[in-house]
Amino acid sequence: VFESAPYIPPDLIFEVTKNYLADSDPKKVNVGAGTYRDENGQPWVLPSVRMAKSLIADCGHEYLPIAGLKSFRTGVTELVFHDTNALRNDCIASCQSLSGTGALHLAALALKKANASNGEVYITDPTWSNHELLFESLDFVVHKMPYYKNSAFDFDGYMESLKAAIPGSAIVLHTCAHNPTGCDPSQAQWKEIASVVQDRQLFPIFDSAYLGFNSGSVDADAWALKYFIEECNIEVAVALSFAKSMGLYGERTGMVAFVTRSPELAVNLNSILENVQRATVSSPVAYGSHIVSTVLNNPDIKDQWAKDLVTMSSRIQAMRQKLYDELVRLQTPGDWSPIIRQSGMFGYTGISPTQIKHMQDKYHIYMADTSRISIAGLNDKNVEYFAMAIDSTVRN
Ligand code: LMR
Repeated sequence: VFESAPYIPPDLIFEVTKNYLADSDPKKVNVGAGTYRDENGQPWVLPSVRMAKSLIADCGHEYLPIAGLKSFRTGVTELVFHDTNALRNDCIASCQSLSGTGALHLAALALKKANASNGEVYITDPTWSNHELLFESLDFVVHKMPYYKNSAFDFDGYMESLKAAIPGSAIVLHTCAHNPTGCDPSQAQWKEIASVVQDRQLFPIFDSAYLGFNSGSVDADAWALKYFIEECNIEVAVALSFAKSMGLYGERTGMVAFVTRSPELAVNLNSILENVQRATVSSPVAYGSHIVSTVLNNPDIKDQWAKDLVTMSSRIQAMRQKLYDELVRLQTPGDWSPIIRQSGMFGYTGISPTQIKHMQDKYHIYMADTSRISIAGLNDKNVEYFAMAIDSTVRN
């Protein structure tokens, strides 16, 4: 029966990690997948997460409710939406999800169930590779909007495409730390985007995988989202993940929230979210949600988490600067200043596929095929080596 089954090429980001792990060269560097590494290049269990784990010890093995752990949902809702009218007026529906991907998946399914979708979605070009795959797998027609030009956000190209978007479509917005370019709209640009989103009656899905991880402050990183819901009164979906911000990559802990016009509509959206959750994963994963809930609902641990966010975001910022300084010192051909203008986990180098292959073959440096580098993979021990490899590759 499988004679016509196609071979589907593997996901390129996970392939980078696989190839890196298979390389035995001691100089190898992994700047592929977006996973935080400490100054020794090792995965980092956040001190706040360690504290939470010691309090939880054992949370048993029972099912969670379909919509997830209640204290997790209220804690996360308060974290993201505190001081908003939407929260004060009970206009927020929420459901625990399998990290950010699960949140996007539930958002897309709920939009369809709520008869709030025309089956079209707009994403940026480039974007996180899973956006296109995910929405296509749910039979959305995916449209790509230009996003990056001359090493910066292509505001004009983006706005032109936004103004021509099909009314009633969904649009994925990166709340902060655009993946993969690291280039976010300014606040003034966000305001213009919000105005066109309203005019064209588009439904924003805020992919919010980096809240707090980007700048060290959840509120600062959520600025665009809060502007849309508070200042413009726009209904939105928000896909949240604790992979990056609490280092809970493997726990698959996230949440989808819908901000609606009324408490009655929020009740309906909650019922839809439960329905689509049940139909897909039945009920969500328990352990990670206990960790997040404990961090958010315990003031001392939450204080520690605030420090952990600063530790991660400032180390990445310092590495951006070091990489840039080193490329300038080497007088590497090209303008490398975008590296220090971009923000978040990723840097966009703009080197060619041939150069990416050369970096891998000659220097054992592993990066995404888009030329994106995960800055978190750099540290004081490898940043000079990495810069030397870039320098010699672009001179080649
Ligand atoms: C990335 O963009 O590298 C991460 O979000 C990992 C992933 O799932 O792609």
